[in-house]
Amino acid sequence: MKKIYLDYAATTPIDPRVTKAMLPYFSEKFGNTMSLHSFGQEAKQALEESREVVANLMKAKLNEIIFTSSATESNNLALKGIAFANENKGRHIVISSIEHPCIIESAKWLEKQGFEITRLKVDKYGLVEPDDVRKAIRKETILVSIMHANNEIGTIEPIEEIGKICKEKGVYFHTDAAQSFGKILIDVNKMNIDLLTTSSHKMYGPKGAAALFIREGTKIEPLIHGGGHESGLRSSTVNVAAIVGFAEAARICQREMKIESERLTKLRNKLIKGVLQKIKGSHLNGPPASAMPKALRAGPPASAMPKALRAGHPKKRLPNNINFSFPGIEGESLVMQLDLLGIAASTGSACSSEKLEPSHVLLAIGLKPEQAHGSLRLSLGRWTKEKDVDYVLEVLPKVVKRLREISPFKR
Ligand SMILES: Cc1ncc(COP(=O)(O)O)c(C=O)c1O
Repeated sequence: MKKIYLDYAATTPIDPRVTKAMLPYFSEKFGNTMSLHSFGQEAKQALEESREVVANLMKAKLNEIIFTSSATESNNLALKGIAFANENKGRHIVISSIEHPCIIESAKWLEKQGFEITRLKVDKYGLVEPDDVRKAIRKETILVSIMHANNEIGTIEPIEEIGKICKEKGVYFHTDAAQSFGKILIDVNKMNIDLLTTSSHKMYGPKGAAALFIREGTKIEPLIHGGGHESGLRSSTVNVAAIVGFAEAARICQREMKIESERLTKLRNKLIKGVLQKIKGSHLNGPPASAMPKALRAGPPASAMPKALRAGHPKKRLPNNINFSFPGIEGESLVMQLDLLGIAASTGSACSSEKLEPSHVLLAIGLKPEQAHGSLRLSLGRWTKEKDVDYVLEVLPKVVKRLREISPFKR
């Protein structure tokens, strides 16, 4: 049976070029970066070269990159580290209502420690309004954390405008770029970003490696104390093999980004157009992907859309993300049926897909719980081919039709 992986937003396979780069660091180049002998120095050199590659991909300086184990860890360090280092200035933090659970839960935990959290609403495409950020900032605000691209609906937030506001107001600005780093251009200086989270396993690198960009001069407390690794901000023996893999993944993304994002955008648009055409009542969640005839465009009439989105706005949606709702069916049943036919997809985000609650992101953009339950995320990637898209277009309408026929929601 065909096996088609369309869940690249959950995790990506490791690129064979990355595996090859990592291999020596499991065997002959096994040194501890803190050792003074040649084994240690060889590992240390690989670590610093990797730091340079990751820094380059976001236009940061070498000393502004801290390696961690995951985006979850980077996000925890960003929120809690900034909170505790700056609480003498104030105890107020601003986030959006569609952040990844690791931001939402860190903010909840900080609330229990006496910090105050403002959760900004988003519009029906998942966009944060920069003016809402401006209005939310007050003299006790120490941090604004708004994700770069949403993991469920692919919305790319107006980070540059938000960064500018934070800079004017003298507030730290953190962005979770786990889904965007390596896929679209990031320039931490142009975008006025003070802290930025990335994750290796979302960009064809191994699990267990990630980074946090921390702008020079930022006041931040470590969460892990010990031998003083990573400029004292993240103690513990460095996972050199995984970091070397992460850097190789970043190198490949940098080289291939333009061509790959154009290729994926085309495949994504074909899939969206085909599904909206073939499946009655289907709805695309998140920003419109491209200019589409009115009859095919699900959701509100064009006149109700912000100007920038009216004709479709590829720049507001990740090139590889698709998220549909099919009213009348359960997303979980759909994912299971598709799996039986060889298609790996997801409903909600990977981390929340075991929960039975509807996705907080889909509720935040105004879907009713029953619409949110009938959602399907298809995320494309490096090994997605046009024939995979054609297979989904052949199979998905039949599966949706069958599930609708047996649905308890059917009237
Ligand atoms: C936007 C976003 N942030 C953070 C994470 C957590 O990433 P990690 O698995 O590296 O902890 C994810 C993973 O799904 C994500 O999509």
